[in-house]
Amino acid sequence: MGKLIIVSNRVGSLKDTGKAGGLAVALVDVLRERGGVWFGWSGAVSDEGTFGEFKIERSKQVELVQLDINKADYDEYYAGYANRTLWPILHYRLDIAEFDRPFEEGYRRVNERFATRLKPLIKPDDLIWVHDYHFLPFASTLRAMGVENRIGFFLHIPFPSPDIITALPRHGALIRSMLAYDLIGFQTMRDRNHFIDYLVQEQGGRVVDDDVVSVYGREITVRAFPIGIDATGFATFPDSPEGKRQQQRIRQAQRDRAQIVGVDRIDYTKGIPHRFRGFERLLEEYPENRGRVTFLQIAPSSRSEVDAYADIQRELEGLAGQINGRFADVDWTPIRFIARGFPRKALAGIYRASRIGLVTPLRDGMNLVAKEYLAAQDPENPGVLVLSRFAGAAEELRESVIVNPYSAAEVAAALQTALQMPLDERKSRHALMFERIVRNDAHNWATRYIRALGG
Ligand code: G6P
Repeated sequence: MGKLIIVSNRVGSLKDTGKAGGLAVALVDVLRERGGVWFGWSGAVSDEGTFGEFKIERSKQVELVQLDINKADYDEYYAGYANRTLWPILHYRLDIAEFDRPFEEGYRRVNERFATRLKPLIKPDDLIWVHDYHFLPFASTLRAMGVENRIGFFLHIPFPSPDIITALPRHGALIRSMLAYDLIGFQTMRDRNHFIDYLVQEQGGRVVDDDVVSVYGREITVRAFPIGIDATGFATFPDSPEGKRQQQRIRQAQRDRAQIVGVDRIDYTKGIPHRFRGFERLLEEYPENRGRVTFLQIAPSSRSEVDAYADIQRELEGLAGQINGRFADVDWTPIRFIARGFPRKALAGIYRASRIGLVTPLRDGMNLVAKEYLAAQDPENPGVLVLSRFAGAAEELRESVIVNPYSAAEVAAALQTALQMPLDERKSRHALMFERIVRNDAHNWATRYIRALGG
């Protein structure tokens, strides 16, 4: 059996820094089981860029192999094509997508450079698993260099309908380059179906079997693999010293008030301003909650060199100020907005101390916060998840309170339902969803994918 090679823009960590997400931990686990390499960007920008030396970290059969990129790569590939073109398009935001020839060229160049540097590390039996929108053409670049291994791809973010994808200049060539993969995985059936619709409508594809599409003489498997978290591991975090400390701090400050929590990277796809307005509507329409409910939004900043991201941070600061100015009292601040991240064990404590997890993206591939909120609850007295119908997680977490995040009135009504939900109902909904996220955890997800790829 050959080794496993994982390729992604961000590479996980071999050390337990308290920051690594469940997904990164699960991928390191599967790499440990069969031996392997995780290959990607070092996160650094240098003059040598992709021509520089590898940064290598090793531990027990696993190697992290990382490369720098240079300033032009950063601007054109990462901040450009990946995050100003593909990210908005794939999240249905044609209105803010930017099309720029140098972005496209930078994207192609970095894909080629990474493939060129990876090539000497590939042995004939190795399985190659490429992740996310940064590397859509990666396999086609490897194939052009003569690599014949099994190569799989998994998209962590949504894939919209052909109507939207066709607004991307040269979509035909880009999506055609993806046909060099043997297996293409998506988060949900909706995304998978959109991709197949695109192949059928735009590339002359034909569905030959359940998950198999024949296109340009090749047969490709296209399937949904909803991603999971390490649910049983995360469930222990609220009881860690750090988790307990956060619970205590919140309980002291909140006394008997109910806390609603939102946790997101600051990103326009997450619907954070809409969520603030939904909370404002709750205070307007259900005034009994004034002074008795608070909303905590934790939002580490992200990709702030891209204008659309800087704009949203300013908007949120303004909105929080406005709503607090309107409703606050001498002993109550309705919204606490914290623009930085927390270690995962602390977050688990915060989730446990929150009566509602409010997860309302406008579009999201899966959304792991929804699953982590559930995993952190006390099964004897769980809180309620209020979840956007546009998060991939809504396909699985059907016992959450599902909302349309664009409607402030609907979000307010869902919050009111959640605040009033009796204990028995909270317990039964939580038990069903918790059982499901334990069964389909991150390790199980990775193992199923690798098996489908032929490992
Ligand atoms: C999303 C993407 C990931 C990405 C992460 C953080 O979850 O699917 O590929 O790594 O956002 O974004 P960043 O641009 O900081 O890597």
